[in-house]
Amino acid sequence: MSFTPRVFSGIKPSGDLHLGNYLGAIRRFVPLQDTHETIYCVVDMHAITVWQDPDDLKRWTYEIAAAYIAAGLDPKKSIIFNQSQVVEHAELSWIFNCVARMGWMARMTQFKDKAGENSENVSLGLFAYPSLMAADILLYKATAVPVGEDQRQHLELTRDIAKKFNHDFAKQIAAAGFEDEFFPITETLATGPAMRVKSLKDGAKKMSKSEASDLATIYMMDDADLIAKKIKRATSDAEALPTEAAGLAGRNEAENLVGVYAALANQSVDQVLAEYGGKGWGVFKPALADLAVSVLAPIADEMKRLVSDRGEMDRILGDGAERARAIAQPIMADVRKLVGFVR
Ligand code: TYM
Repeated sequence: MSFTPRVFSGIKPSGDLHLGNYLGAIRRFVPLQDTHETIYCVVDMHAITVWQDPDDLKRWTYEIAAAYIAAGLDPKKSIIFNQSQVVEHAELSWIFNCVARMGWMARMTQFKDKAGENSENVSLGLFAYPSLMAADILLYKATAVPVGEDQRQHLELTRDIAKKFNHDFAKQIAAAGFEDEFFPITETLATGPAMRVKSLKDGAKKMSKSEASDLATIYMMDDADLIAKKIKRATSDAEALPTEAAGLAGRNEAENLVGVYAALANQSVDQVLAEYGGKGWGVFKPALADLAVSVLAPIADEMKRLVSDRGEMDRILGDGAERARAIAQPIMADVRKLVGFVR
């Protein structure tokens, strides 16, 4: 069976957007809107799997939607909305809670990292998180999902849920006249530089919304001086930059900063090293700071303008939700029939 090529991705409104979100996700969403049907969501229901102050949740929801648009998504081409406006996400995730197995969820490294020693005390929602994520994607029969490296395991689980649903209901799927599979086996799009941007203070850790050190994360709304300061103070090593990518092996911090440069400049790592190989940090860091500011500052300015117009943002999110529902509702109606729910 052939599925319409359709892209879905989402970001959690649980903190200020940072450079990792931009390079690993948002930046890569933009060109896909010219080749695919694209659906980009602000996943507010995922955010509340850990406590969120309701005012912050709202602010970050608008901020992410604004970042999507400021970075180049066109709300007429792409469907942009927040998850909770399309209730079918919750409905399908419940069905997936009954398809997925406890053991599958318990193996998720993100759950283990977040729950830590405290797994008896985290919310039930945090445990079921990947099932809601599978619902986000499969509610639209999305065929491809652009994400950063840290989401790979969740997407494998999405494929496992799709396969098990297709298998468990194979008889009903065939009887209803679907040629082959009901849900697609969704592809992960996570290649290129900066798929895992690291903390500026520790090249072994990923850059994240919740970091202890203020200087470890570049936020999309940071001003030029702060970006320059953070890059200047980023942990590096004593050596000059190598002339080829292979020379970055074992140099986590150097590899990270060169990867960030490559992604921001739309170049390969080798191209960057052809220019900066043999040069020291005193040359490379100011160049990286200038480049980061030149890319991020116009986006931040546009984000500020957009978030100040709540009426317009509500209109965009409402329109997106309506278009999302138009795709989701017929698929959900099929799912209910397959499962045997009477209506
Ligand atoms: P979230 O909100 O943690 O992150 C949003 C996107 O940013 C990417 N990302 C990074 N990429 C590179 N380097 C980093 N340091 C970095 N940090 C974050 C993430 O990989 C992600 O693409 N579970 C998801 C949200 C979600 C989703 C979905 C994604 C819910 N439903 C359906 C895709 C499809 C999450 O928590 O992302």
